[in-house]
Amino acid sequence: MAIAYAPGKVILFGEHAVVYGRPAIAAPVAQVRAQATVQDAPPGSGLTLVAADLGETHVLGAPPSDAMRALEVTARNTLARLGLASPPDLRITIRSDIPIGRGMGSGAAVATALVRALAMHLGAPLPPDEVSRIVYETEIIHHGTPSGVDNTVIAHEQPVYFVRGQGMERFRVGRAFRLAIADTGIYSPTRVAVGDVRAAWQADPARYDALFDAIGTVVVAARRAIEAGDVVALGPLMQRNQALLREMGVSAPELERLIAAAQDAGAPGAKLVGAGRGGNMIALLEPGGEAEVIAALQAAGAARVLVTTVA
Ligand code: PMV
Repeated sequence: MAIAYAPGKVILFGEHAVVYGRPAIAAPVAQVRAQATVQDAPPGSGLTLVAADLGETHVLGAPPSDAMRALEVTARNTLARLGLASPPDLRITIRSDIPIGRGMGSGAAVATALVRALAMHLGAPLPPDEVSRIVYETEIIHHGTPSGVDNTVIAHEQPVYFVRGQGMERFRVGRAFRLAIADTGIYSPTRVAVGDVRAAWQADPARYDALFDAIGTVVVAARRAIEAGDVVALGPLMQRNQALLREMGVSAPELERLIAAAQDAGAPGAKLVGAGRGGNMIALLEPGGEAEVIAALQAAGAARVLVTTVA
């Protein structure tokens, strides 16, 4: 038997613009995670995937439901990478407490846990780069045109500076900082928000390229601040990033309500994370001010509030 895990993630700076070649900064969130358990199954039973949270079971080779298609492709690509022509007799159970469609990378985390557990069980654990490459293929099913930032940060489990097509750069976090992550409770599929931004960009490329460039500038400044341990500088940079995302049309009244509540309670910066339109937001926390911000987010209707440290 093999068990493997994968964390959630948040994009600290640069979502959406990262699809268009601008940089982004993302960090893993260990407080939520996906888990895959691989067990031997009776001879001739084939490879069975069990999505425990969805109550769905799928045997590789049968026509997959929409929900199981990504898992099917992930398992197939992993087997192909390991040189197995036909599926071994296994039962793989997947669970996750990462909310689905809320900008925390649940699809990439589930796929990462599956690749890791399957490779481990078959005696051939894969390095993070290879896990990331397989999960990128899965992300195409979820997102259509993924930048690759989700699979990269989740497979490597460390903060990354990412540019599409160039891969990731590790960078130093000069001083650890803490974030509240609050969920609007609104399901927002990444594919839809990313598709809408693409349509808007096609309709007015000059305006959207300027927004993407402005976000790119924020990301570069944020990287410098994080490396220098200048946490104070991050608040205004989050505000600026959020203003640009708002202009891009990917915020939502529920996100704005949580962002305003966090700021009114003293958070120096807050922004949506991931695709937007719903899902989660982050608020920068200051030592001594955490409890107030968390209470304000809860009072403003957050479905869940997590606290994580970026280090
Ligand atoms: O909402 P999530 O966690 O899938 O993140 C999407 C991030 C985007 O930048 C909007 C899309 C992408 O592929 O990078």
